[in-house]
Amino acid sequence: THQWRGIIEEYRDRLPVSDTTPVVTLREGGTPLVPAQVLSERTGCEVHLKVEGANPTGSFKDRGMTMAITRAKEEGARAVICASTGNTSASAAAYAVRAGMVSAVLVPQGKIALGKMGQALVHGAKILQVDGNFDDCLTLARALSENYPVALVNSVNPVRIEGQKTAAFEIVDMLGDAPDIHVLPVGNAGNITAYWKGYREYAADGVATGTPRMWGFQASGSAPIVRGEVVKDPSTIATAIRIGNPASWQFALAARDESGGLIDEVTDREILRAYRLLAAQEGVFVEPASAASVAGLLKAAEQGKVDPGQRIVCTVTGNGLKDPDWAVAGAPQPVTVPVDAATAAERLGLV
Ligand code: F0G
Repeated sequence: THQWRGIIEEYRDRLPVSDTTPVVTLREGGTPLVPAQVLSERTGCEVHLKVEGANPTGSFKDRGMTMAITRAKEEGARAVICASTGNTSASAAAYAVRAGMVSAVLVPQGKIALGKMGQALVHGAKILQVDGNFDDCLTLARALSENYPVALVNSVNPVRIEGQKTAAFEIVDMLGDAPDIHVLPVGNAGNITAYWKGYREYAADGVATGTPRMWGFQASGSAPIVRGEVVKDPSTIATAIRIGNPASWQFALAARDESGGLIDEVTDREILRAYRLLAAQEGVFVEPASAASVAGLLKAAEQGKVDPGQRIVCTVTGNGLKDPDWAVAGAPQPVTVPVDAATAAERLGLV
């Protein structure tokens, strides 16, 4: 029987590895591309969700991390470090375990979801909560990697982008060609950079007949690219994309401009509405930041920017279980019943 071997083995000829590279994998990638019925009806388009929460640590970061940790191991690193809003740290911690390495993670104090903190802790990462935001954490991680024996595994490390571009390959492999539009949330802007690279490579090699327009969405309180200036004190309930000075800013602009795309913002209210729609109407439970892609698509559709009949893929980047507070918040408390079928049936509205 065959199982998916992980992105490095599946796309080996398109990644910077050699026959002797020690592959560190949790068999990431190969994630579901799920047709989204309600979103398709609302937009008059054929909408698919690339469900990246199905990766081993519950986010798309695993695609980049298998590459980053593999290459760090090949180069003899004993320890890795990253700055993170939570998902990168969870992924780095897990892959470091596989590689027999020490992981150090820097997170903004009080601003990462509980599930992500739990992952870093249980995988044995050395965690520092920094009295600052993600951008401060990244500055610190860069300084440490330059001056101490520890390899940086943030997406400023180009092999992270190489790994993450495989999501675009999978989409084209599944659909038979590139979609018309690709929508995704933007934080540090590594992922939009990676998808654009993947789509361009497939088009250049004739695997796809063209490339999609790239549509990126930031949270309104953390939208430096939309505003055209650094946001000093970024805020949003979507903590994964609470970033005021994205490292891959220029690459995101290039993806937008070269693809004829757009980068816009969505409010926390729009994010939460899309989050609830995905769970309640599509059966897909994502974390709030992930819903920014869908919120953006719905906003664009309401503005008349989405011509019907197009094929659209929205990446939903992380699993809802990472940050369940938002699922519970505002929902009615379940009713308690005795062990009695008649009462239970009545409370369930079955009679
Ligand atoms: N969605 C989720 C769930 C994320 O965790 C991130 C980034 C993004 C979207 C945005 O992707 O940064 O490539 O533009 N999380 C990083 C982290 C910052 O530390 O986990 P991006």
